[in-house]
Amino acid sequence: MKAQLDSLLEEARKALAGAVTMDDVEALRVSLLGKKGSLSALLKGVSEMPAAERPTFGKVVNQAKGVLETLLEESAARAKARVDAEMLSVSIDVTEPGRHYRRGHVHPIRETTEVILEVFGQLGYRQAHGPEIEHEYYNFEALNVPKHHPARDMQDTFYLTEDVVLRTHTSPTQIRTMLDVKRPPIKAVMPGAVYRSDSDATHSPMFHQIEGLYVDEEVSLADLKGTLLAFARKLFGSEMRVRLRPSFFPFTEPSCEVDISCVTCMGSGRGEGESGICRVCKGSTWLEVGGAGLVHPNVFKAVGYDPEKVTGFAFGLGVERIAMLRHKIPDLRLFFENDVRFLRQF
Ligand code: FA5
Repeated sequence: MKAQLDSLLEEARKALAGAVTMDDVEALRVSLLGKKGSLSALLKGVSEMPAAERPTFGKVVNQAKGVLETLLEESAARAKARVDAEMLSVSIDVTEPGRHYRRGHVHPIRETTEVILEVFGQLGYRQAHGPEIEHEYYNFEALNVPKHHPARDMQDTFYLTEDVVLRTHTSPTQIRTMLDVKRPPIKAVMPGAVYRSDSDATHSPMFHQIEGLYVDEEVSLADLKGTLLAFARKLFGSEMRVRLRPSFFPFTEPSCEVDISCVTCMGSGRGEGESGICRVCKGSTWLEVGGAGLVHPNVFKAVGYDPEKVTGFAFGLGVERIAMLRHKIPDLRLFFENDVRFLRQF
């Protein structure tokens, strides 16, 4: 037994002298002192020894264990010193400039949406949201556009099933909000993506609108105009004017298109080119940003409000249109191509 122990110590000494990494040392510790290690295997033989020899052998084994532990500690210290030395040998030039990571930023459409929501927030409007996949009841029927009514053709609709559509405007969220609130007053803005089968420099199949709804008693067209004027002036400056042009929407009566002074020529109609005419408004001095009107009595009836008691106005603004004006972008498709050279400018 003693001879076995001696040869174990000798082998351990050799192996630990050759250990390079901390992992090597740990593997040796397990194979020498672990539960299934060499020392435990030797100890198992104790039971076969004469009882008188056992205490002496136990002592020797304990001493050998102490020696092994010391050898392991020394070997671990050598391995650690090697790692430290390697780390110190890597030269770091602390004077070298740091790496620059380009910071991301919000997309100009989202940024414009947030600015518009902020302005209406200051005017006391809370936010409401509705689904992009919408039942035709909310997108059309409750908005006074019955099935087979010619007004359904005003917006080229993507139908998912016979009665489920990609919403063509944010107006269905008016209905959902009124049904939720149950009793006026309501002052809400409803942003979101909308879809139409439409595509050119000023029309995209997916675009964004912000719907506004104010329902209370005795809300008038003057309130609508005052609100839109306050909004336009906050966004584009105190010289802005707003024009409401008669139009038709089935869900408002009367209905109008909302124009603001051209932000490029500030309503003068004059431009710098050869023609001397502003190329953005083509000399008309006005730019259309959305549609609006007083909520139609049939819409109030659809949500269980009494049109004799409540009145309200609603508007729907085109976010891309407003972003184009804010950033002087000539083609709305640029917003959706995701060309980083374009997006980085904002
Ligand atoms: C509507 O969508 C009505 N729901 C607006 C409304 C709301 C009227 C509440 C009355 C009361 P219109 O189809 O005109 O209306 O669209 C409103 C604005 O969305 C337009 O002025 C324009 O700025 C923008 N728009 C319309 N179609 C597109 C398109 N294909 N791409 C980008 N912007 C568009």
